Amino acid sequence: MKILFFGDVVGRPGREAIKKILPQWQKKYNIDFTIANADNLAHGKGITENSLNEILEAGVDLVTSGDHTWSKKEVNSLLENKELPLIRPANFSDKVPGKGYRLVQVRTKKIMVINLIGQTFMKHEYDNPFKIVSKILDEEDADIIIVDWHAEATAEKICMGWHLDGKVTAVLGTHTHVPTADAQVLPQGTAYITDVGMVGPKDSSLGANKEVALEGFIKQTPFKYKIATGPVQVNAVLIETGKDKKAKSIELLQEVVAF
Ligand SMILES: [Fe+2]
Ligand SMILES: [Fe+2]
Repeated sequence: MKILFFGDVVGRPGREAIKKILPQWQKKYNIDFTIANADNLAHGKGITENSLNEILEAGVDLVTSGDHTWSKKEVNSLLENKELPLIRPANFSDKVPGKGYRLVQVRTKKIMVINLIGQTFMKHEYDNPFKIVSKILDEEDADIIIVDWHAEATAEKICMGWHLDGKVTAVLGTHTHVPTADAQVLPQGTAYITDVGMVGPKDSSLGANKEVALEGFIKQTPFKYKIATGPVQVNAVLIETGKDKKAKSIELLQEVVAF
């Protein structure tokens, strides 16, 4: 099977790019299942019903999130709606709505997508993702298991790759918005990348207006987040799955979409 995974989709520019590129890539690469990280989907932070529907209608099959999950209040009802293909990190408090993984039947294969969030350099404290993912894998099984690993620190990220090597099909890093040059299949057969990178404005600071962001660093003052405009950098990975939950290959796909 061929699984397409988009890193953090940033605001309207990111959503428009998905609408444009996904139908093309579905044909070009024969995609069976598409996942997108929606941490920055609505106005750069969080998820709204409209923004979620936009990417689902464009062809995304399952949506994950991260540290900005709670930025928009309406996400609570979206996560409570079991009909919606939306998950949030599994190692959030068990008091919050939603689930951290989802099982989906695609033809003859059962696919499980797990969403995890890192503990290092994050604003809030979360449960231990290493322990939580092991618990999920003890309780559930699938033919293909894809992990969206939303974390900041590269050491924590690669250690999750080693923790899950041979146990899942792919561990795919999100959150930093910058793709890393380490896409590989680990020795026991798990596809891994430290960060897939974003789907967001190319001439920007992680999707934010570069002048505003730069001024914040020069003046050492907080800046008001504003999404940049212009061509969109699309970053995604294409996973080809093999037998026994293993991956045959992982390829970073990059394209700039202009409107
Ligand atoms: Fe994030
Ligand atoms: Fe993000």
